[in-house]
Amino acid sequence: MNRLQALYATTIGKKFIAAITGIILFGFILGHVAGNLKVFTGATADGIPHIDEYAHFLKIAGAPLVPEQFVLWSARSVLLISLILHMTVVIQLALISAEARPISYVKSKKRAASLPALWMMFSGLLILGFVIFHILHFTTGTIVIGEFNHGFVYNNLESSFSNPLVGIGYILVMLVLGFHLNHGIWSLFQTLGLDNPDRNKFLRLTATGLTIAIIAGFISIPLAFMTGAMPDPVSYPHELLTGHR
Ligand code: HEM
Repeated sequence: MNRLQALYATTIGKKFIAAITGIILFGFILGHVAGNLKVFTGATADGIPHIDEYAHFLKIAGAPLVPEQFVLWSARSVLLISLILHMTVVIQLALISAEARPISYVKSKKRAASLPALWMMFSGLLILGFVIFHILHFTTGTIVIGEFNHGFVYNNLESSFSNPLVGIGYILVMLVLGFHLNHGIWSLFQTLGLDNPDRNKFLRLTATGLTIAIIAGFISIPLAFMTGAMPDPVSYPHELLTGHR
């Protein structure tokens, strides 16, 4: 067994993997909400919405040093591996801790996971389902609601969120994500050994403050389109963005 396998076999190793992968996934969420907020910053002089420009930049980042989309696909691979590892170890950890709970043997023969653990499983699965739907919706355009055109992110957002049912659905999932993140960040602080009665109140407030800022950022987007607060999309030739004619 090599060192990595040995680490993986221990509870502390699994906690470590959950923390590292959690930080990576959290980093993505932070970057994603920041990028999405470009929807509010307007357009270039040519009329290209900043968010379309940003999405295009993500595709070509690193070129010509590396082929176009190389950085994008590398990041996607790291995220996918992190997601799979994160889910695997947190489920294993929840099972280990359920097995170790003496109370479940006194009251019943059944193994019982704690309520927060059950909530994290349930909300985590819901978020996973959302992410699959979301990629098919906004990235691949497989699930079309309204209109979808690759690269025209602003138009796609406007077209989907002018349907109030889609907007409300997204907002509800963001609220579930909020509770998941709040508990996840707090657990991360504990795994990192930061918790201590003197500063737990501060750490809990930090987790909640971060969560509220992120979720408010996400929710503001469907909300802004649903309420008609956003300017109408302007059509522009896609060659303007890509430079390919
Ligand atoms: C209201 C909230 C959200 C909005 C408006 C939104 C918007 C978008 C848009 C427009 C894209 C496609 C970008 C492009 O074509 O370049 C995208 C991609 C994506 N979003 Fe979101 N998003 C939201 C929330 C989330 C959340 C909460 C997660 C994760 C938990 C998430 C995960 C992803 C992923 C994984 C992709 C695919 C990225 C890629 O591989 O290119 N999104 N999102």
